[in-house]
Amino acid sequence: MTLKENIDNASILISISDKEFNLLSELIYQKTGIFLQQHKKSLIVSRLNKIVKDLKFNNFHDYYEYVINDPSGEALVSMVDKISTNHTFFFREKEHFDFLKEQVFPELFPVSKKDKKIRVWSAGCSTGEEVFSLAFLLREYLGTAINQWDIGLLATDISMTALVKARESVYSQDRVNALPAEMIKKYFQKTENAEFKVKEEIKKMVLFKKLNFMDEKFPFKGKFHIIFCRNVMIYFDKETSLKLIDKFYHSLYPGGYLMIGHSENIARYHHSFQYIKPAVYKKEASHES
Ligand SMILES: C[S@@+](CC[C@H](N)C(=O)[O-])C[C@H]1O[C@@H](n2cnc3c(N)ncnc32)[C@H](O)[C@@H]1O
Repeated sequence: MTLKENIDNASILISISDKEFNLLSELIYQKTGIFLQQHKKSLIVSRLNKIVKDLKFNNFHDYYEYVINDPSGEALVSMVDKISTNHTFFFREKEHFDFLKEQVFPELFPVSKKDKKIRVWSAGCSTGEEVFSLAFLLREYLGTAINQWDIGLLATDISMTALVKARESVYSQDRVNALPAEMIKKYFQKTENAEFKVKEEIKKMVLFKKLNFMDEKFPFKGKFHIIFCRNVMIYFDKETSLKLIDKFYHSLYPGGYLMIGHSENIARYHHSFQYIKPAVYKKEASHES
């Protein structure tokens, strides 16, 4: 095939029938919770077109059959990687970071606190910018006192592609541009390719793990003081969101905080959290579970 034929072939979109869309969207919903309504047909086509062609299928039905019959589960992993939206950036929704600094950290880090353990979870961490923003903020807030604390940051995602990038922790100039120059100097090393690698002392604070929110139970022994689950539930329906909110509730210490994206609205759902302010919820201190 000539280069021109290659380009032409790549740009031709395989069309999707209603039946094929229903099969694929139901599979995606069952496996990931991501709820795709009819108007998202073009999203499935644009995101899966290349994979379907690379596998030499002529239609989405054959691709669907291949995914559900793949015993290794890898076809499903690749499909989920293509479907999930991984958009993120450092200090996204700054209000949350200000709120942590002004209200949550003073509660969590009193000098007199005997138990020095703090656990924070970036749930749906994508390529890592969210959890590293949290790590930078903690460093800035605590200064040298950070050494007196046992701080663990967990970052999870369903997308292996996103997790691989998060673990590499290398970001291009335009991704770090919005950070103050001082912060870049302190927490990144410049690579040979003029990119920015998060320094080892920061990376050591974070554990990256694959986790699907659809799993019946979360595999953690301990609880968290703060959970960030931002810009994830926007892709879920009410039923999936409520189940997830309940699992988060039971994964938090009493008095713990759940931060969601500002464009997500769970106030209209019936759940156990106390509303604090837009996109901030708290598990009441007296409610042991
Ligand atoms: C738009 S990103 C949000 C990243 C970050 N929290 C932020 O607000 O910038 C949404 C992330 O949720 C992840 N996700 C979607 N469905 C998931 C599921 N069922 N289990 C775990 N992660 C999921 C996606 O892979 C994606 O990385």
